[in-house]
Amino acid sequence: MSWSLNPRLDRLHPYPFERLARLKAGVTPPSMLAPIAMSIGEPRHAPPGFVLDRLRESIHLLDSYPATAGLPELRLSAARWLERRFSLPPGVVDPQTMVLPVNGTREALFSFVQAVVDESRDPVVAFPNPFYQIYEGAALLAGAEPYFLDSRAGPDHVPDLEAVPDSIWRRCQVLLLCSPGNPTGAVLSGELLVQALRLADRFDFLLAADECYTEIYLDEGAPPPGLLQAALAAGHGRFERCIVFHSLSKRSSVPGLRSGFVAGDPDVMARFLLYRTYHGSAMPVPAQLASIAAWDEDHHAAANRHLYQEKFDRVLPILAPVMHVERPAGAFYLWPDIGQDDEQFTRDLFARTNITLLPGSYLARAHDEHANPGAGHVRISLVPSVAQCVEAAERIREFILARR
Ligand SMILES: Cc1ncc(COP(=O)(O)O)c(C=O)c1O
Repeated sequence: MSWSLNPRLDRLHPYPFERLARLKAGVTPPSMLAPIAMSIGEPRHAPPGFVLDRLRESIHLLDSYPATAGLPELRLSAARWLERRFSLPPGVVDPQTMVLPVNGTREALFSFVQAVVDESRDPVVAFPNPFYQIYEGAALLAGAEPYFLDSRAGPDHVPDLEAVPDSIWRRCQVLLLCSPGNPTGAVLSGELLVQALRLADRFDFLLAADECYTEIYLDEGAPPPGLLQAALAAGHGRFERCIVFHSLSKRSSVPGLRSGFVAGDPDVMARFLLYRTYHGSAMPVPAQLASIAAWDEDHHAAANRHLYQEKFDRVLPILAPVMHVERPAGAFYLWPDIGQDDEQFTRDLFARTNITLLPGSYLARAHDEHANPGAGHVRISLVPSVAQCVEAAERIREFILARR
C-alpha cells in the first residue's frame, strides 16, 4: 500500500489493558492462590432476572431492523427515569426530541465527539486527567487537540476549571466531564456543573457529562447531582449546550447488553441522530425491550448499589491502616496513593499474590510541564464478590506489611 490508511490512528495510545498484559508478561504468580482480577471495571453482580426474561421473551423480534431513534417506549422510559433520578419537573425531558438510545456509553461518547466537532476551527476537546481512555481517542480521531484538565490540588479530585487559559476555552468545542469519576470516584457538585455551564455559554462550547456511574454512590442520602439538574438551575430550560450519557452496564450489571442513552439539548440531539443514522448503530429491539424493563425498575439498582457499599465497608478497614486510601463518593473503585512506582507495585503484587490491579499512570497523561497525575496510584476495582474483595484486601495488606 502506498498510503498509510487514516494517519490519525497512529496518534492513539495503547489501551491500558494492553499495557497491563505487557507488564504481567513473563511473571508467574503463586499457583496456590486463586487469581483475583481487580483491574477491569466490568460489573460482575448477577443481572436482574426480569431483564433477562424480557430479553428471552422478545428474541423473535430480531427479525426486523431496529430504528436508529429507538422505540418511543424506550425513550419515554429513559426520560421518566431521568426525571425520577434527578428530581426534574415531570415532562421537562421530551422523549421525542431529547433522548436517543445508544449501544453503551462507550460508543456514544466516541460517536458524539465525531458528530459534533468542527475540525476546520482548530478544535480542542477538554476532559479530566485521569480519564476514561475513550475521551482521548475520540478527540484525536475527530481531529481535535485533547486538553488535559488536571484535578485541583487536594483530595477531592475535581478538575480545576479555573486553571484553564481563555485561549483554550476559546478553541474548546466540547468539555467532557465524568461524575462520579473513573478512576477517582469523585462526584462533581451542582455548583461546579453550573460553573462549567457558565464557561460553555461564555466561550460557546458543548458540555458532555458522562454519568454512567450515577447510580453507584456511597451515601444513600446524597445521590450525585447531574448536569440536567444544573442546566435547569442555570436557566437552561431546554438543556441548551448540555448532553448527558447514561448506561445500564453499571446500574443494572448488564455490561453485555450494550445499552445506554444520551439525552439533552434537542438541537444537538437532532444532529447526533443524523450522524447515527449513517453511522449505523441502532439497538436491537429485544435489547431495547429489556432496557425498558431495567430503566422502569429502581429497586434492583438500589440493591446493586448496596452491594458495592458493603464492599467498601468491608475492604476499607483492612486497607486503610497500610495505605493512603479514601472512601470515594461514587463509582466502584479505590484509588489509593501508594507512594511508589505504580507499575512496579502492580507487577510485584501480581507476582506475590495473584491479584491484578491497574497502574494509575495508565489512566492519565503527563502533559506540558505537568507530571502524570495517575502516577503513584493504582486502581482497585471492587467488582469481584464481597468475599473475594475481602480476601484480596487481606492479601494486599500482607504484601505491604511484608515489604516494610
Ligand atoms: C467513565 C466510563 N464511561 C463510560 C464507560 C462505558 O460504559 P458502557 O459502554 O458499558 O456504557 C465506562 C466503562 O467502564 C466508564 O468507566
